[in-house]
Amino acid sequence: MAEHPAYPVGLRLTGRRVVVLGGGQVAQRRLPALIAAGADIHLVSPEATPSVEAMADAGEITWTRRPYADGDLADAWYALIATGDTDANTRASAEAERHRVWCVRADDADAATAWTPATGTSEGVTVAVLTTSAKGRDPRHTAAIRDAVVEGLRDGTLVAPHHRTRTPGVALVGGGPGDPDLITVRGRRLLAEADVVIADRLGPRDLLAELPPHVEVIDAAKIPYGRFMAQEAINNALIEHAKQGKSVVRLKGGDPFVFGRGMEEAQALAEAGIACTVVPGISSSISVPGAAGIPVTHRGVAHEFTVVSGHVAPDDERSLVDWAALARLTGTLVVLMGVDKIGRIAETLVAHGKSPDTPVALVQEGTTAAQRRVDATLATVEETVVAQEVKPPAVIVIGEVVGVGPGTVEAPTE
Ligand SMILES: C[S@@+](CC[C@H](N)C(=O)[O-])C[C@H]1O[C@@H](n2cnc3c(N)ncnc32)[C@H](O)[C@@H]1O
Repeated sequence: MAEHPAYPVGLRLTGRRVVVLGGGQVAQRRLPALIAAGADIHLVSPEATPSVEAMADAGEITWTRRPYADGDLADAWYALIATGDTDANTRASAEAERHRVWCVRADDADAATAWTPATGTSEGVTVAVLTTSAKGRDPRHTAAIRDAVVEGLRDGTLVAPHHRTRTPGVALVGGGPGDPDLITVRGRRLLAEADVVIADRLGPRDLLAELPPHVEVIDAAKIPYGRFMAQEAINNALIEHAKQGKSVVRLKGGDPFVFGRGMEEAQALAEAGIACTVVPGISSSISVPGAAGIPVTHRGVAHEFTVVSGHVAPDDERSLVDWAALARLTGTLVVLMGVDKIGRIAETLVAHGKSPDTPVALVQEGTTAAQRRVDATLATVEETVVAQEVKPPAVIVIGEVVGVGPGTVEAPTE
């Protein structure tokens, strides 16, 4: 008989009797999906793995502790035959045939009337991959195709826009510190689905080059602000594009809520009645030191780390930072936006009791190909910044953790 391809179908098993014969590894792998499908699952097996036993204990399946016996498949809609006894499997699949129960045979795909596809899910869609014929069965290949599709959908390298369910609105996406691989899977997917992207100078700029030509990419720094403040002009641009029914991504460096003014944008959108999603990002305050071989905490060295903004000097009346209190802490101090004011910051910390020998590291353009690390102490940091021409963006780490690592971790080369 000519071999025809299997006919793919999705079984809706909620409340329907499914019989599983054998409580070993195959059952352990397949049962979670059957449970998730809401099937009424009956396991027949003299023994079971601890995980399968736990499913029975939790009431997710019922378990009859004996070998397969003729009649077990009566009234079943679907059967998984996976005992270690080939003879029992053969008898069970003959019974399935008699009762017209679709059955999967773990030990003999040819004898089965159904095959289990390699499956994965992404955003409410199940991807199921089947080989066309028993002869061509290659489970590793089908699993690899499943992985490629699911991972591609998750990370946005495979673009499948949601035509029906996509709603206009704004996603505030934390893009991570700069390396395009350090954005979240959700952020990358939203970027791939956007009509308009309003991007900061910091963050994964390389990802913008990958966007399809119809996507409008706007540099946030270049939005004209005339009678408004720059931030107000950005808020207005977000609102205007969303009002035109577009999917807008506001791509920000690091995390939107760490010195990112993300909440100001979320508030403005809420006031305008625009739907807003926030996607967290990997903040430079932790990841950039890490990329340069500096842990912000280390057992026996630092039990706390504090992230502060150094964009205004300690003696500036606008500063909200209690530098005297910070000087008394024994843990790590991470300063963002502090390159220009590092001299005054170091002086203030020393004036309030911090040792001038406290190690300091400046990590410029962390996680990018241009990453560089410059080391100093509180006493020398001001002159070092000038001598080494350290420029923003840089994360400044102050504390003993600077010395614990093996040194600079290599920056990416592309
Ligand atoms: C306006 S703040 C935004 C912080 C961002 N929201 C975050 O969570 O990383 C900008 C500052 O973050 C730091 N920064 C961001 N990305 C950086 C990078 N790749 N390398 C070094 N510093 C970075 C610098 O201190 C820079 O001045």
